[in-house]
Amino acid sequence: MRITHVVDWALDKSVVLGYSRIGPLVRQAWWPPDPAPDALAGRHVVVTGASGGLGAATAAGCARLGGTVHLVGRTKSKLDEAASGIRDDVGRPVDLVTEICDISDLDSVRAYADELTGSVDELHGLVHNSGVLPPERKESAQGHELVYATHVLGPSLLTHLLRGVLVADGDARVVWVSSGGMYTRQLDTDDIEAKEREWSGADAYARTKRMQVVLAQMWADRLRIDNVAVHSMHPGWSDTPGIADALPGFHKVIGPVLRSSEEGADTAVWLVAAPGGSVTAGASGVFWSDRRPRPLAYAPWQKETPGGRARLWEAVSEAIGVDPA
Ligand SMILES: NC(=O)c1ccc[n+]([C@@H]2O[C@H](COP(=O)([O-])OP(=O)(O)OC[C@H]3O[C@@H](n4cnc5c(N)ncnc54)[C@H](OP(=O)(O)O)[C@@H]3O)[C@@H](O)[C@H]2O)c1
Repeated sequence: MRITHVVDWALDKSVVLGYSRIGPLVRQAWWPPDPAPDALAGRHVVVTGASGGLGAATAAGCARLGGTVHLVGRTKSKLDEAASGIRDDVGRPVDLVTEICDISDLDSVRAYADELTGSVDELHGLVHNSGVLPPERKESAQGHELVYATHVLGPSLLTHLLRGVLVADGDARVVWVSSGGMYTRQLDTDDIEAKEREWSGADAYARTKRMQVVLAQMWADRLRIDNVAVHSMHPGWSDTPGIADALPGFHKVIGPVLRSSEEGADTAVWLVAAPGGSVTAGASGVFWSDRRPRPLAYAPWQKETPGGRARLWEAVSEAIGVDPA
């Protein structure tokens, strides 16, 4: 046990070994067991950004476990194609629904939440997977910086609006798909919409991925009483269309050791489907990778202050027009 801890820690600290396909290849020797084959039978799971990459792989993983999976995205044809690919891969009937929502657009999120809560009574899993790394600064339909709107505002509003159906499930799981890139930033709430600073996609991405892990903790604290667990995780480095498009140099160099989308999605699927114990509401609010909790900070400068957390919650509440306290 002790040795596996040390090896796991060393893989994580090395970054390249832990984040590449070597991470799950080694860690699966000791990580917690797979969920039961029918763990999600009769349960509904929403996966945002499910038209490809890790989102489609997460949807596939949840569908394999018997869940009714709602593939959410911006483009109907891409979602239908992803659903068809999942059906072919699984090779037996699976329950997939494709639904349109632009997560960066708060009106679209409200409309989608209305539609979903009108059609399901209980929601077991909500995976905030949608992600972007645009080449230049763009704004959402409501004029928010696009990366912040996609990674932080839309998921926060959706969590708030789906709270009732999550609570009704009795053991629901909300998963924020963050990134190991969040370690490169501390929580930074000054100029949160990046209006004054020199904008870079990598900076906006890493800053909002840090916000996601902090928000996951804050949501966990608020939803624990309702028996809704909230987790964040990072998928390692996975070979997806997003990585190939946004980071072609990285994709070329690290390509041979990148994880498959299935390997990258493994922890998100496991967090949604695993039984009890460390993944339930009583223990939630931690950051996971390869089925193990990871620290939110390795260095003192990475730790946020209570004031910073409060400012983040306040900024998000103001932008989404509701304080989901
Ligand atoms: N791949 C990795 O190595 C890696 C590492 C760390 C973290 N991550 C995180 O994992 C998640 C998935 O990444 P990926 O590599 O699979 O990326 P990807 O291939 O670019 O997929 C991103 C997905 O998000 C969707 N999306 C983007 N903006 C959206 C919006 N406004 N509303 C709804 N859907 C939207 C995209 O749909 P469209 O078809 O509409 O564009 C696409 O389905 C992201 O949050 C990313 O930050 C990935």
